[in-house]
Amino acid sequence: MSAIESVLQERRVFPPSEKTSASATISGMDAYKALSAEAERDYEGFWGRLARETLAWKKPFTKVLDESNAPFYKWFEDGELNASYNCIDRHVEAGHGAKNAIVFEADDGAVTNVTYQDLLTRVCRFANALRKRGVKKGDRVVIYLPMSVEGVVAMQACARIGATHSVVFGGFSSKSLNERLVDVGAVALITADEQMRGGKALPLKSIADEALAAGGCEAVKDVIVYRRTGGKVAWTEGRDAWMHEIVENESDTCEPEWVSAEHPLFILYTSGSTGKPKGVQHSTGGLLLWAAQTMKWTFDAKPAEDVFWCTADIGWITGHSYITYGPTAIGATQVMFEGVPTYPNAGRFWDMIAKHKVTIFYTAPTAIRSLIKASEADAKVHPKSYDLSSLRILGTVGEPINPEAWVWYYENVGGARCPVIDTWWQTETGGHMITPLPGATPLVPGSCTLPLPGIMATVVDETGQEVPNGQGGILVVKRPWPSMLRNVWGDPDRYKKSYFPEELGGRLYLAGDGAVRDKETGYFTIMGRIDDVLNVSGHRLGTMEIESALVANPLVAEAAVVGRPDDTTGEAVVAFVVLKRSRPEGDESTKIANELRAWVAKEIGPIAKPKDIRFGENLPKTRSGKIMRRLLRSLAKGEEITQDVSTLENPAILDQLGEAR
Ligand code: WTA
Repeated sequence: MSAIESVLQERRVFPPSEKTSASATISGMDAYKALSAEAERDYEGFWGRLARETLAWKKPFTKVLDESNAPFYKWFEDGELNASYNCIDRHVEAGHGAKNAIVFEADDGAVTNVTYQDLLTRVCRFANALRKRGVKKGDRVVIYLPMSVEGVVAMQACARIGATHSVVFGGFSSKSLNERLVDVGAVALITADEQMRGGKALPLKSIADEALAAGGCEAVKDVIVYRRTGGKVAWTEGRDAWMHEIVENESDTCEPEWVSAEHPLFILYTSGSTGKPKGVQHSTGGLLLWAAQTMKWTFDAKPAEDVFWCTADIGWITGHSYITYGPTAIGATQVMFEGVPTYPNAGRFWDMIAKHKVTIFYTAPTAIRSLIKASEADAKVHPKSYDLSSLRILGTVGEPINPEAWVWYYENVGGARCPVIDTWWQTETGGHMITPLPGATPLVPGSCTLPLPGIMATVVDETGQEVPNGQGGILVVKRPWPSMLRNVWGDPDRYKKSYFPEELGGRLYLAGDGAVRDKETGYFTIMGRIDDVLNVSGHRLGTMEIESALVANPLVAEAAVVGRPDDTTGEAVVAFVVLKRSRPEGDESTKIANELRAWVAKEIGPIAKPKDIRFGENLPKTRSGKIMRRLLRSLAKGEEITQDVSTLENPAILDQLGEAR
């Protein structure tokens, strides 16, 4: 029997890594249980201890948690600190200035080493330049940059002067960028001329110009441009400035702005179940504490030895917590890359791990699945063709990992030496929540295992009652934790309704995922979203957002979007569309489907493009006019319709919509 078969048949348990266990920060299940018990016994004492041990405070906090205005919780509120000081200065002061903070590999393979001293100088200069332009504590700055050292510098520089950054992923359209600039009330925008992906230069500045011209963001006084490619860009005198020019005469030092632990470090937009993305607001102290603590616990990262590599983009939460803040907060060396995993070939990840002697590697299941396919087609890009012996821990994030991909990753990338750490968490949680610990937790492929110490996760029914192990339900967190979101920017009501719904009693944090716990071990398995959020290649997309984009097209009368399981991307977007004119057929339907795909790319971004668009004269509706989404999901999967369709007003429509295009 192959390893994969035995895993699938027996739910095989893999031991925590032998290589790692003995010296791990949390070594053995007893150590894990002791920490969890400490948190149960004295919740505030536990978090207070971690916050004092892990972070450098300018002014110590006197109170750990304030629940008086729940669910608007406050952590360490009267304590003062600065995120950039914690991530950079304190390591330089401790004598580690010459140590590499970032080993950056560009799209063309060129490598740049940035030491902690270099990072400090660059952050200070840029922070001074921002201050000179009037950016101050509490201002919001939008960052629309490619993967770059400049991206980290920009984020850290904002944090240094107390400005709140909002990073917008470089794949979003001008419309999405405009909406975020307006919603967050930005005073400045930091972008680049172009970005490089897989040997191609793609525009950024021109998209940013379009976003600014679309109106509503007149408060943006400064546009600062990182020159990445030297490509031609339009220039607005008095507003636009080159990043390299404005830092030229700035000082290498910059006094940090000391802020309350509750000061908003950043706002990051993510999709929810309405058409409008939510500005998830994170705090300085709580976010930084958990980003650093989970580097030590989940990744067992030892700054003196480890080389950490998280392949996420800084435009997502993973890039915030596990590139910009987590690794630097503990003074680790990390690898960062520009480009795509398949360029110059599908061996890029393995080549980079070998070249930079990466010890801890963190990536997404979609990347793993696509690299499995590529390595089956071409032995040269198979991980076994590379020396990956430096690795000791492998992680995954963003979506459920199927046991087949898990075992492939374990056997071929780790060579059965490295634990695979399947980390469940969200933009809203700020850091890892449910995850194995490399030195402690026996592993089961497809399960994110157990909550971290201090994280009170459980599974409940629709009324908020805990369900017994073995029974599926709704994933919730029972108590607030430091790195949780603090608010939905500008919409406290939505924060309460989305995350602490009255139906569950108003105090449970609703994650939006379904989960089940194993009868014997209590291990969690995540069963995917229970709301209208899709997860495509680990990217969160709201079905309503895509529907709104489609109906904004002049050809479209109605649209309904659902997800369909996909072998590579986890889920794929399927759109059912009714046009204002008659239902197109043959070549015309292909042409319009392509037009609509391009339209969605322009409205939201290429990541939201429907894989499959099907046209009907109508959508399946009940007599009261409600779209029957369950039917659409079955149609999207190509399943036989077994549901009762007697309430359906127009059953004939199912045949039209069932035809895959
Ligand atoms: C999903 C990414 C299963 C989940 C850090 C969650 C996962 C959403 C896992 C958050 C995992 C993330 N196993 N599902 N290990 N990790 N998810 O906000 O549905 O981009 O709610 O944060 O991704 O996505 P987000």
